[in-house]
Amino acid sequence: MTANTKRLHMITWGCQMNVYDSGRMADVLAPLGYAPTEAPEGADMIILNTCHIRDRAAEKVFSELGRLRLLKQARVAAGGKMVLAVAGCVAQAEGAEILARAPYVDIVLGPQTYHRLPEMVARASRAAGAVIETDFPAEDKFDFLPDATAASGPTAFLTIQEGCDKFCSFCVVPYTRGAEQSRPQAAVLAEARRLVDQGAREITLLGQNVNGWHGAGADGAPSTLGRLIAALAANPNLLRIRYTTSHPRDMDDSLIAAHRDIPQLMPFLHLPVQSGSDRILAAMNRKHTADDYLRIIGNLRAARPDIALSSDFIVGHPGETEADFQATMRLIEAVGFAQAYSFKYSPRPGTPAAGAGQQVDEAAKDRRLQELQALLRSQQAAFNAACAGQTVPVLFTGPGRHPGQLSGRSPWLQPVHAAGSESLIGTVAPVQIVSGNPNSLTATLIPHPMEQERTQA
Ligand code: 5AD
Ligand code: SF4
Repeated sequence: MTANTKRLHMITWGCQMNVYDSGRMADVLAPLGYAPTEAPEGADMIILNTCHIRDRAAEKVFSELGRLRLLKQARVAAGGKMVLAVAGCVAQAEGAEILARAPYVDIVLGPQTYHRLPEMVARASRAAGAVIETDFPAEDKFDFLPDATAASGPTAFLTIQEGCDKFCSFCVVPYTRGAEQSRPQAAVLAEARRLVDQGAREITLLGQNVNGWHGAGADGAPSTLGRLIAALAANPNLLRIRYTTSHPRDMDDSLIAAHRDIPQLMPFLHLPVQSGSDRILAAMNRKHTADDYLRIIGNLRAARPDIALSSDFIVGHPGETEADFQATMRLIEAVGFAQAYSFKYSPRPGTPAAGAGQQVDEAAKDRRLQELQALLRSQQAAFNAACAGQTVPVLFTGPGRHPGQLSGRSPWLQPVHAAGSESLIGTVAPVQIVSGNPNSLTATLIPHPMEQERTQA
């Protein structure tokens, strides 16, 4: 570390988009001399990159800020300086409250303003007052962020789309992340190429509503995610492609065809349905029915028979009766999920559902969540157990927890552990699954190298 290197400590909550954004904030600050540091003690700048999607997010941020305030005071008392910034969706939604409750915060910035971070840091170190930037600027932040530089390892994330126009009744994203924006195909391909050149073998395309991607294609006209994936798959060193998170209404034919035609597109899809009751789906403003969802799953399975499904579920949305909840249980039975996330509904201020009547009482939410999670856990355990004995291509991503062990991912995103040499990290190799555990697979390497899953040489 050189004498004028400044130390940057980041704390990241929430989704993969936030993890990606933290990387990009580190990138824009690197030219100002900021290098990442693991510890908050002694940091010249601390950024809390926050998430607002579920309950009590703001309280967690305030309690973390209380802790950091002491560090900042100690540093100032010792004649030093520390810039304290709050970024992400809590900053977007509650910027004014942050400055009122935590006046020692120097910078509050929303997700659309990261490219302005260097300017804000300069202003914060000059000005006495705090700097707040949570507007949605007219220019596209992607045009101003430097190319991603962080060495990515075998798996990398690439944001291709931001924001959401769906306005589900319960969700803050359309308010915190703004309207849908898609990056042009050329920018996505260029970033993917860089990631692959740095060693990435799997890229997960990210967006709040990623399958709503409609960026400019090769001809400049709005394109589709299916076509974008086909263009990405032309890179022979990119072995695996995934995307998350999707909305059922944007599962168009070109995307379903991509699951049929593009072997690099992994047979796993996170497609949130939220509820299995048409009444609640309507109240949620999802604009699809339970049957619509089942039909899409049927089409996906026809296109790619081994595709495994994941979803998000909310129990206790306002107005949800026992019968509505049972309809969700029936949908889960009908689909059979390889894994899923499930939540109790919690009101997010400013969203339509928060002000709705018929809020469901906590005890009913608790009971429904337990019942639903028990079913999902048993489906996940059955899915993993059924892998035992199979030969599966695994992308090895790093060393395992024990010496001599590697960890990696199956095509269906299950964590896989197998004994093997570190030279396999960054490659796809076939393994035999020995056992399917509740949350992972245990495997042994198959000694004779089989053909790797890549089809294009
Ligand atoms: N209450 C509970 N869960 C929510 N989610 C989003 N908003 C809420 C809320 N107000 C869940 C949804 C979404 C996931 C990312 O978080 O299931 O798909
Ligand atoms: Fe929120 Fe997803 Fe609905 Fe958009 S589609 S409003 S991000 S839950």
